[in-house]
Amino acid sequence: MIKHISTGDGSSSLFVEELNETYHSIHGAIQESEHVFLKEGLDQLESDSISVLEVGMGTGLNVLLSCKYALQRKKTINFTTLEPFPIPEGLIPEINFPELMDDSSARTWFNQIHASQEESLTRINDYFSLNKVLKKAEEFQSEQKFDIIFYDAFGPHAQPELWEASVFKHLSKFMNLGGILVTYCAQGQFKRNLREAGFEVTRLPGPPGKREMTRAYFKGA
Ligand SMILES: C[S@@+](CC[C@H](N)C(=O)[O-])C[C@H]1O[C@@H](n2cnc3c(N)ncnc32)[C@H](O)[C@@H]1O
Repeated sequence: MIKHISTGDGSSSLFVEELNETYHSIHGAIQESEHVFLKEGLDQLESDSISVLEVGMGTGLNVLLSCKYALQRKKTINFTTLEPFPIPEGLIPEINFPELMDDSSARTWFNQIHASQEESLTRINDYFSLNKVLKKAEEFQSEQKFDIIFYDAFGPHAQPELWEASVFKHLSKFMNLGGILVTYCAQGQFKRNLREAGFEVTRLPGPPGKREMTRAYFKGA
């Protein structure tokens, strides 16, 4: 059972009863995504053309924020997102991210993001296109190489198999050398697994309510 909840900054999130897990920080979903994936992620890349691979589309918050970011900064973003278990359609109108984003196009973008069909490139605005893949990270295959991975799986206590070195070794096949992986997680074993998979790991201050997060650079297998 998945339920809509409200987080500390007033933005929506979802709670999964079976896993006892929320999709975002309870301190603030938008606040967390902006910090981890925009400030410590996209902002670190200098190129005007960026390819993103996200693990776990969930509510589509990171997609939506990146879509607005692309338009505001005039950077072309090609965004591939993986989601084997899309959220129930009935929850989409309850999620309030578009209304909190100060952009009259945001609800249209949000609906397009959720309606986009699997593995067909959907152009959401002049700078942003989306490729939605309904596959697990462990099973993803691509000819493409990405500049940045948004690693937004449920935490290691809920889904330990998604934080093992084998998953990062697999995903690194689709990364450019020097490409970065960002995530809210800062668990010790996870960081050792990243190093084993060929990443250089840095610790950074986390979003409000969370001491640390991780940014890692792919140095080659
Ligand atoms: C923390 S939530 C995602 C948060 C999301 N980025 C958002 O903004 O709502 C984790 C997501 O990972 C998805 N997931 C679960 N197993 C997965 C797997 N093996 N590969 C990729 N995604 C997975 C879940 O269905 C869930 O939507």
